Amino acid sequence: MMLSVHDLRVSFAREHGDPVEVVHGISLDLAKGETLGIVGESGSGKSVLSLATMGLLPRTARATGRILLDGEDILTMSERQLCRVRGRKIGMIFQEPMTALNPSMRVGAQIAEGLRLAQGLSRRDARIEALRLLEMVKIPRAAERIDSFPHEMSGGQRQRIGIAIALALKPELLIADEPTTALDVTVQAEVLDILDELVAELGIALILISHDLGVIARIADRTLVMYRGDEMEQGETEQVLRRPTHAYTRKLLAAMPGRVRASLELSDG
Ligand SMILES: Nc1ncnc2c1ncn2[C@@H]1O[C@H](COP(=O)(O)OP(=O)(O)OP(=O)(O)O)[C@@H](O)[C@H]1O
Ligand SMILES: [Mg+2]
Repeated sequence: MMLSVHDLRVSFAREHGDPVEVVHGISLDLAKGETLGIVGESGSGKSVLSLATMGLLPRTARATGRILLDGEDILTMSERQLCRVRGRKIGMIFQEPMTALNPSMRVGAQIAEGLRLAQGLSRRDARIEALRLLEMVKIPRAAERIDSFPHEMSGGQRQRIGIAIALALKPELLIADEPTTALDVTVQAEVLDILDELVAELGIALILISHDLGVIARIADRTLVMYRGDEMEQGETEQVLRRPTHAYTRKLLAAMPGRVRASLELSDG
């Protein structure tokens, strides 16, 4: 198993009073080439779970349980080991791509920088590889756009640059936390399709976090439904969405039946 989380609990220290536990014993498994969707309303612990997996929890947090990445526990690694893992094994795509990009650096150079650091490529090879990645994430006229600045691109294009930067590090596990929330529905679908293709082509494992069941239905093989730090249910996406066993999942479904049904029909074809 690429990623195996056992009984993860996360709590935050408070200035006054006892620590507050916000993730109450989550377990999950994820294999290469597989996409796990995590869905749940705001504050349910989705981001805390993904930060824990990246080893990026703030100092005020305390985590127990196990987060095994290729058999090695993230929770017991030193900061030095974590840096290596983040550079080589886990990539992250953030919700707001502008914050992850350097506004004063051309996008090609930003991708190339990652390639040179992570893979030790020469300047020239890194540029060739950056162009290939831009084409892979379907930036139109990539050979011209490679020298654009982030502000010269659309939101959807910037999101794709964020994906290209994450891919430059050749991660085995990619965590995408609300990667398409800021995008309109058609661009959102394009970006999701790109992620879906990358999982299939590169055999990476993907965790896709969203509060939107339509997004999850579109590409997740399995789905974990969270509510206030607890697992409500987890299983094959089709199963969870077609025959939700938990009242909370039914409520989520009822809130957006049209789009979810449409997505399910899409994935049937
Ligand atoms: N640094 C922190 N210090 C204290 N509490 C925190 C911290 N980060 C998150 N929390 C709390 O942990 C809980 C889960 O937050 P989290 O960010 O994981 O939610 P989420 O499911 O990602 O929500 P959203 O859909 O809004 O992004 C919330 O109650 C939040 O207030
Ligand atoms: Mg979040």
